[in-house]
Amino acid sequence: MPHSFQVRTGQAGDADRLAVLAAQVWLHTYATDGISNEIAQYVLSELTAEKFSEYLNEPQATILVAERAHYLAGFAVLKFGATCPSGAGATVELQTLYVQAHFVGHGIGWALLQAAERKAQEQSSSPLWLTVNSKNARALAFYARQGYTKVGITYFVLGDGRHENHVLVGGGAH
Ligand SMILES: CC(C)(COP(=O)(O)OP(=O)(O)OC[C@H]1O[C@@H](n2cnc3c(N)ncnc32)[C@H](O)[C@@H]1OP(=O)(O)O)[C@@H](O)C(=O)NCCC(=O)NCCS
Repeated sequence: MPHSFQVRTGQAGDADRLAVLAAQVWLHTYATDGISNEIAQYVLSELTAEKFSEYLNEPQATILVAERAHYLAGFAVLKFGATCPSGAGATVELQTLYVQAHFVGHGIGWALLQAAERKAQEQSSSPLWLTVNSKNARALAFYARQGYTKVGITYFVLGDGRHENHVLVGGGAH
């Protein structure tokens, strides 16, 4: 990985940085028309240090972070025992994979995905499944190049908006 970033398991002291990083990446990726009330409410209620503290304490969840000298540039959230809704037989959801925009395209997402896939294989002998917005061309291309295939469609509801997501499943062991 570039810039000497290391992937490690998330710890209790990461919650503040994870919340801020999540809000920055989420807004940069999805709030492309500006900030609506729904967007503001979502970020302020869901992408909080309290929520990340809960994930870090949740036995069925694992967070992996990419860190250099106390700076986080990316993270992945895995949920175990989460059956793929499209029936692909996968039981580990890659709930989030975010890289700060400054570091996109430098291998951090790849390194986090490799570590997440290894963890899913070791703990559950399962490939990863995930949902990604159908308009998120960069992420769709990234996952396609990593061997992920579309197995269904689902919707992310935000206020009155209904956003189509592809359900993808990975190739399995590495
Ligand atoms: C989608 C996203 C996670 C991808 O992460 P990224 O860090 O930009 O991607 P990477 O730089 O790791 O991958 C780019 C390429 O480097 C390759 N690569 C990097 N390091 C490598 C290594 N050590 N060995 C082999 N290949 C490597 C990857 O295979 C990939 O190949 P490609 O050029 O054929 O695509 C990132 O762009 C992002 O966070 N976007 C915003 C949020 C988002 O959309 N998240 C996904 C929503 S589900």
